[in-house]
Amino acid sequence: SSIFTFFSHGVLVAAPEYLKIEANRETIQVLKNRFFLGIESEEARQQPVDVAIPLFNPRPIHTSPKNPVVSEKPDYVVLQNGWLGQAAVLYRYPASIVAGFPIEYYHLVDQAVLVWESIPMEKSVNIIDRMRTRMNSLASDPSATSQTIQKLQKVEWLAQNIGGQAHLVKFSFFLLYSQPTREELTQLARKIKIVARSRLCDVDVPRFFQRALFEYKTAPPISLFGGIKLKYTDTNSLRTFYMLIDETLVDEDGVFLGRDFTGGPVVFDPYTKTNHNIVVLGKTGGGKSMFAKVFIRRLKQKEPNVKIWGLDPENEYINVAAKLGLKPVEITPKTRLGLDPFRLMRELPDFEPYDVASLLTQFYCEEKDETRLRSLVFQNRDSKNMEEFVKRVRETGDMEIAKKLEGALYPPDSIVYEGETLGLEPNTVYGLKSLELTGMTQRNRLKSLVMTLLSVHLQRQMFQKQEKGLLFIDEAWLFVDFPVTMGVFESVARRARKYGKSLMLITQRAYDVAATKAGRTVLEQAASSFLFGQEKAAIPLMQEVYHLREEEVNTLLEANPGTCIARIGPRSVRMQVEPTGEELEAFRTSLV
Ligand SMILES: Nc1ncnc2c1ncn2[C@@H]1O[C@H](COP(=O)(O)OP(=O)(O)OP(=O)(O)O)[C@@H](O)[C@H]1O
Ligand SMILES: [Mg+2]
Repeated sequence: SSIFTFFSHGVLVAAPEYLKIEANRETIQVLKNRFFLGIESEEARQQPVDVAIPLFNPRPIHTSPKNPVVSEKPDYVVLQNGWLGQAAVLYRYPASIVAGFPIEYYHLVDQAVLVWESIPMEKSVNIIDRMRTRMNSLASDPSATSQTIQKLQKVEWLAQNIGGQAHLVKFSFFLLYSQPTREELTQLARKIKIVARSRLCDVDVPRFFQRALFEYKTAPPISLFGGIKLKYTDTNSLRTFYMLIDETLVDEDGVFLGRDFTGGPVVFDPYTKTNHNIVVLGKTGGGKSMFAKVFIRRLKQKEPNVKIWGLDPENEYINVAAKLGLKPVEITPKTRLGLDPFRLMRELPDFEPYDVASLLTQFYCEEKDETRLRSLVFQNRDSKNMEEFVKRVRETGDMEIAKKLEGALYPPDSIVYEGETLGLEPNTVYGLKSLELTGMTQRNRLKSLVMTLLSVHLQRQMFQKQEKGLLFIDEAWLFVDFPVTMGVFESVARRARKYGKSLMLITQRAYDVAATKAGRTVLEQAASSFLFGQEKAAIPLMQEVYHLREEEVNTLLEANPGTCIARIGPRSVRMQVEPTGEELEAFRTSLV
């Protein structure tokens, strides 16, 4: 769940740092927050933190800071670089804290530090009991202040919330900053105080504890002297410190996408995330395809060797394929694809009789036929092709199923199966729009059939080597009535990481996609999500899956084309995708 339950004792440091970023042939200086996690025990240190919490570089807790203290005065320290440093502790918090408030200090300080220690359950109960008894007697005094009443409420609230997942934790949050002179240091301290007050917090510069704070030592015995009072809260609330939310997204060696709401550049590299998958959600006209094209183009320019495959149900990409560094292949009802499931089954170890049976059930039969089809496919798995399989089914006397399957032997379906298997080269985008036949009872059926078999077939190439690559699928919602198709997307998503691949799924009507089991899994598990403008109907789902804050919901409801929220692990960055003039011209969707 959170690092505060994962590690019983630790230090979390946010250290803003200036970086130079290459973006669209420009060099920009940006402020990037680096996070460091220090953890106490030997055993904890051996946990694979880089997997659990990819943002952090776990360090032994007592590593001395980059700029060590050389001498200590009562209320400041002298640092090795000659500057004067000061530590200020936040010691009073309002009943509700604005989520993410530590961010407000980042441009003022060198480091923002959170030290915590969880308390074993039994001891927690004792501590809360004692606090409750004390606060109760204080509050029962008729002259009790509203502050006391508030404190009692807080304790009651803690008492209710401790247990289950939540532990009691002691914590301290402080800021470390430095300036060349005393005057400047005092000025900066004043600014920090103003920011704190505006959030109803108080800060204090504890005398004689400056060095200790610079060395992250707030544990007893220091706190016992009353110099630094540790606060109590529960692990869930500590999470609302959100110091882990970084409102900037600047991945070194990433692709420049646009700017965040403060005007800072957004630079993104999906391949450094826990998995490489990307989902792009938003209402029609929100700017999803523009984003995808801009991203693909710049990724390809930056890394010509990255392998890209695209499935383009509306022929939106094949027209601009050259700009994306891709080869366009338009599939028409006359293209012979050679994607016979029996042939694919022989060629692909992961495509099994079970999968073929689901596919045939979905496109030709009814659900009740699935069990029967499974045994038929299994018994006849050595059939040369669909035609031979149908013949064999007929011979077994199962005329009902044979009759249903006959649809596969005539156009347009037969074309999908017949012919030599389409030669597949990476860096190709397949346009499927012409498969939208009028007068079909089930809309998008032929598209789905081709989409499914093509995705299955592509996996062979994608998952051959461990090598950077991307499969993008736009308009995924068209396939929500075809669980087998959605299932193939999910299986690509699941296997992608192992082979260095990324699935980028782009869709409107996120709620329809999430209503399918496979679709939901893909949405929930992608490490990177880009949420563009949404219709009202999509908001409940957005809140459920992405735990949006209210201002984020408003952003989505009021978004202009190209405005989105990038949700990358614990980061949440509101941004505007910035195509260049040339890209905007080329990638604009025609108003046909
Ligand atoms: N970042 C942007 N900056 C400026 N204009 C944009 C941006 N993104 C999109 N647009 C404008 O909005 C139009 C629609 O964008 P886009 O085709 O990407 O929408 P979409 O979300 O893919 O919609 P659909 O779901 O209908 O495919 C574009 O043709 C372009 O004119
Ligand atoms: Mg689009």
